Amino acid sequence: MIEVEHLTKTYGEARGINDISFQVEKGEILGFLGPNGAGKTTTMRILTCFMPATSGTARVAGYDVFEDSLNVRRRIGYLPETVPLYTDMLVPVYLRYVAGLKELPYREIKGKVAKIMEQVGLTHKADKFIGELSKGYRQRVGLAQALINDPDVLILDEPTIGLDPKQIIEIRSLIRGLGKDRTIILSSHILPEVSMICGRVAIIDEGRIKAIDTPESLTEKLRVANKVKAVIEGVAEDVKAALGRIAGVNNILVENGDGVDRAKYTVEFAEGINGPPLVARTAIEGKWDLHELTPMRMSLEDIFIQIVTEEKDIV
Ligand SMILES: Nc1ncnc2c1ncn2[C@@H]1O[C@H](COP(=O)(O)OP(=O)(O)OP(=O)(O)O)[C@@H](O)[C@H]1O
Ligand SMILES: [Mg+2]
Repeated sequence: MIEVEHLTKTYGEARGINDISFQVEKGEILGFLGPNGAGKTTTMRILTCFMPATSGTARVAGYDVFEDSLNVRRRIGYLPETVPLYTDMLVPVYLRYVAGLKELPYREIKGKVAKIMEQVGLTHKADKFIGELSKGYRQRVGLAQALINDPDVLILDEPTIGLDPKQIIEIRSLIRGLGKDRTIILSSHILPEVSMICGRVAIIDEGRIKAIDTPESLTEKLRVANKVKAVIEGVAEDVKAALGRIAGVNNILVENGDGVDRAKYTVEFAEGINGPPLVARTAIEGKWDLHELTPMRMSLEDIFIQIVTEEKDIV
């Protein structure tokens, strides 16, 4: 649905993006994750025909964004980073105006506008001018205009920025639902948000894609070591000895292990061994109480930090 090949954009001397390639299929939500100035907005602007690339190609729904820009624009809904809105228009009047621009049949417009206002929580602002709205409500108007014509492809630049927590949850679930039969690219700085909504994540830094994969695989690929953390109540020496007898244990670290109380054990297993059930069984066999059992994996946040600070490519 979206095919991007070797896309590069330079702003005069300055770098925008550098040799970006990826594909997004129908029914997929791809998240752009990256620090400020990474190139997320630049990529989105090219995909939405807002500006041309310096080199490389991008196709949306089979149409080239440069050669066939009108056909591309007919099929996408775009929420830009800063939403340009007409502040002296009433909310529903503006949305009806956008629906008209997007060539919705006249008789459908009123119903569509009412439905979209309901979906993004704007119904009670129907008698307000856009200029009277707070930042979060303007963001909702921006979302509504992107969604109004039910486009096949949605490009959402930081869709939840400025929204309150309740609305963030609603919009996330709205996007997830929309993603089932559409193609969506969204950008975000919020790591849990990306792993929650997106099937795949592209980590972008300094104009390049540093990694692109499912949140799970990214976590898996960068798992530093196969460790399990356990809090077990028992004589530390005995517990440590029993854990040491498990086949495949490479190392055990004990914290607060001076007594018969609870101690924290960090057990490092050889690669490919699933540690948690083995630790649980050992505790049960020794008749020790097991208070906590946590596989230690890197969170998407750790991975992100690792990739953007070590410049490590794991594509
Ligand atoms: N209109 C412009 N003129 C010159 N340079 C630009 C322009 N727009 C973006 N850039 C540069 O291109 C690079 C990528 O910017 P971009 O806006 O794509 O980043 P971003 O990933 O969206 O960042 P943010 O998280 O802050 O929104 C930055 O170095 C930025 O300074
Ligand atoms: Mg941006």
